[in-house]
Amino acid sequence: MMTAPIDATTTSAWAELQQHKTDLKPDLRGWFAADADRAKRFTFDAADLHVDLSKNLVTDEILASLVRLAEQTGVAERFAQMLAGVHINTTEDRAVLHTALRRPAGATPELNVDGQHIDHDVHEVLGRMRAFATRVRSGEWQGVTGKKVTHVVNIGIGGSDLGPVMVYEALKPLATDIQARFISNIDPTDLAQTTADLDPETTLFIVASKTFTTLETLTNARLARDWLWAGLVASGAIDDTDEAKKDAVAHHFVAVSTALDKVAEFGIDTDNAFGFWDWVGGRYSVDSAIGLSLELALGPDVFEELLAGFHAIDVHTASTPLAQNVPVLMGLLNVWYNNFLGAQSHAVLPYAQLLHRFPAYLQQLTMESNGKSVRWDGSPVTTDTGEVFWGEPGTNGQHAFYQLIHQGTRLIPADFIAFVNPEYPLRDGDRDVHGLFLANFLAQTKALAFGKTAEEVEAEGTTGALVAARTFSGNRPTTSIFAPALTPRVLGELIALYEHITFTQGTIWGINSFDQWGVELGKQLALQIAPAIEGDEQAVAAQDASTRELLAYYRAHR
Ligand code: F6P
Repeated sequence: MMTAPIDATTTSAWAELQQHKTDLKPDLRGWFAADADRAKRFTFDAADLHVDLSKNLVTDEILASLVRLAEQTGVAERFAQMLAGVHINTTEDRAVLHTALRRPAGATPELNVDGQHIDHDVHEVLGRMRAFATRVRSGEWQGVTGKKVTHVVNIGIGGSDLGPVMVYEALKPLATDIQARFISNIDPTDLAQTTADLDPETTLFIVASKTFTTLETLTNARLARDWLWAGLVASGAIDDTDEAKKDAVAHHFVAVSTALDKVAEFGIDTDNAFGFWDWVGGRYSVDSAIGLSLELALGPDVFEELLAGFHAIDVHTASTPLAQNVPVLMGLLNVWYNNFLGAQSHAVLPYAQLLHRFPAYLQQLTMESNGKSVRWDGSPVTTDTGEVFWGEPGTNGQHAFYQLIHQGTRLIPADFIAFVNPEYPLRDGDRDVHGLFLANFLAQTKALAFGKTAEEVEAEGTTGALVAARTFSGNRPTTSIFAPALTPRVLGELIALYEHITFTQGTIWGINSFDQWGVELGKQLALQIAPAIEGDEQAVAAQDASTRELLAYYRAHR
């Protein structure tokens, strides 16, 4: 039984922070000028991540109050409860154990929760995934006509898609043999385009769905099965018989799910299914069997290195004092900006083209987790929760939306992520292009922090109204996350970092970051509206006036 959340707004730390907010005169220029040690003091390492918090709008006193807020709301204690398997997912009465997915083999003490030998079960599935990936990658596993698999297509949505696709894109240079593709949207365009140039004889589908009930995924899985059958029959590779088709599914479909009974109903042999458990939330599942496409395309060693990275940050979070604990500090800064300084969104700006899906991944992680209006005991939240996460890789974003971050009226804290060593060390003449890229990473956070005064603008010869237009206020907060290279391990560390930032904020707000009831209503209504689309007059009549009007437009234009 979970205790009622501590109301953060009633703590003494909250009162201190309100006073800090009243007294705050943001002055990053002045703060740095007066304090030669600021950059060093506000920079922390977590595993391979070097995290500079010094360009945030905080003083030592504010940071100390934020740390007290974490203490007074029991962040460390709740994190320990999560690791131990306490049912902190109260609305579903479940443990929350994604951290168990990356515990190394032989970790002690053994983790046993609700009568389940968690470590044993996790490593049993990991072993099966490794064995299967090895068979597919070596060509021992073959398609129905005896050909080696060249493409794996993951069919899933939300957490059963965003994690695998983000990681695959980030580590794509390591996919040298088998290529992965991803189908998620029920817009038939997605499946049609993704399969257009694929050969059914060399394509392996992974149906990835925690519940194995998700409309989009099951619809796409049936469409993929039809595509496979049609292609194989048309080329004469198989006969048009039920038996031949069943055999084709056995060679070209595997599944990942917590609902193995439903996998069997779909016609996939459960010997070719990889399980996980209800204590892994969808958006926390890339490190479970949901990552099977990654094992296949990138190889088991890469996947296990990724898991080791996650684990390194779990260890950091569990064992580092709050005042040096990077995910906790970053979560606290987000609370500071959201609840005290009025920020409503948070930009994540990777200076790494390979991380181009990272902001989208974080949107599900953070917004499905913390976009809540009630606390874990059902009572209303006592303060704003769940900021909007968004972003694009630099430098592309610089030429699109950075204008608003630099000179707009809204406060947008931003995380800049960069890597010392490039994946592709290209040169433009005698210039290292990655070096130029990194110069932009450094320049942007500098410009945001320190701005450009009217005097500096005038000193360059600008006069009149242009002076104001060319002035930059500065004091726009950023965090810089730097790491040696975008390796699988570092990527695991980055993901776990944001998981635990999300956890920290959720705990302070008193909300259950592990359910997602807010996505249910739309799903239910789509099922009710579907007959109206098909022309069922009764279903049309049951709709509200606006929906009826849109249905009329649809029917008039089809
Ligand atoms: O959108 C709601 C949601 O339940 C997500 O949390 C989840 O990641 C996604 O749907 C997919 O669910 P499943 O893996 O069960 O198909």
